[in-house]
Amino acid sequence: MKELNHEQEKASQVDQEGSLKHYYVWDRGVRWFHWINVIAVLGLIAVGTVILNATSLGVSSEGKVDLKILHAWIGYVFALNLLWRIIWGFIGSPYARWSAILPGGSGYGGRLKEWLLGVKAGKVPSYRGHNPAARLMLALLFFVLATQMVTGLVLAGTDLYFPPFGHEFAEWATAAGEDHSKLEGLVPGAKEMLDPEGYAAMRRFRAPFIEIHEIGFWVMLLAIFGHIAAVVISEVKERDGLISAMFSGYKVFRDKPKD
Ligand code: HEM
Repeated sequence: MKELNHEQEKASQVDQEGSLKHYYVWDRGVRWFHWINVIAVLGLIAVGTVILNATSLGVSSEGKVDLKILHAWIGYVFALNLLWRIIWGFIGSPYARWSAILPGGSGYGGRLKEWLLGVKAGKVPSYRGHNPAARLMLALLFFVLATQMVTGLVLAGTDLYFPPFGHEFAEWATAAGEDHSKLEGLVPGAKEMLDPEGYAAMRRFRAPFIEIHEIGFWVMLLAIFGHIAAVVISEVKERDGLISAMFSGYKVFRDKPKD
């Protein structure tokens, strides 16, 4: 009974204000991608941090291989989810599309300027989808996610001989050529089956990928921090239900959104 009264009270507040409107923004596809991505990225950061500090943590070589395998398995979930989101950006609902996410397009510069002036004047223009500044942040986030995916898949091949490139790297490292029987029993860290020259060349090829993967990790930490800060500030200032919208799909506005 008490709860009903509270609900009624809330409803009448909305009625009195007369202008709170709910808009469906984030479809199921976007919401599922978002939360799977959050969980996978947190897992990858946690295991990646241990790999990065394996020596000082006293992790054995076998332990490090196990950590890499765990990291790669989480990485596959992350990569499939991201690949699926890239496709959804072409076929999903209007606010899920790349045209509504990435910066650019006709009049983008003007809208960004208007948004920045709005922030300065304390009256931020409302957007149903992403505002023009958020689009810049999202471009950075998706770029780093894609970079981690590509470099991670190469490393899974060079370090673990895992798909999609593992077979090619195994051939290179063992100089097996077409003789695939030579690859039988090849496991990460098993040096005796390796062809020294081929293996050294494969490791030289790998070097920039591990470097970029590590830089990507640090950029990602910064980008995640920036993303969370921007979402919390926007929720507090604009009170548009931005955070709950990632669960329910709905945002709430007083004024008519620009888009
Ligand atoms: C958000 C995404 C990701 C983050 C933040 C991340 C982070 C990291 C970090 C910090 C390391 C340790 C780097 C080092 O030892 O110098 C690492 C290594 C590694 N990552 Fe990722 N990673 C991500 C995605 C992926 C994906 C998608 C895969 C592949 C499926 C992958 C495969 C690997 C492998 C095989 C290593 C071991 C390389 C090595 O240290 O020798 N990663 N990752």
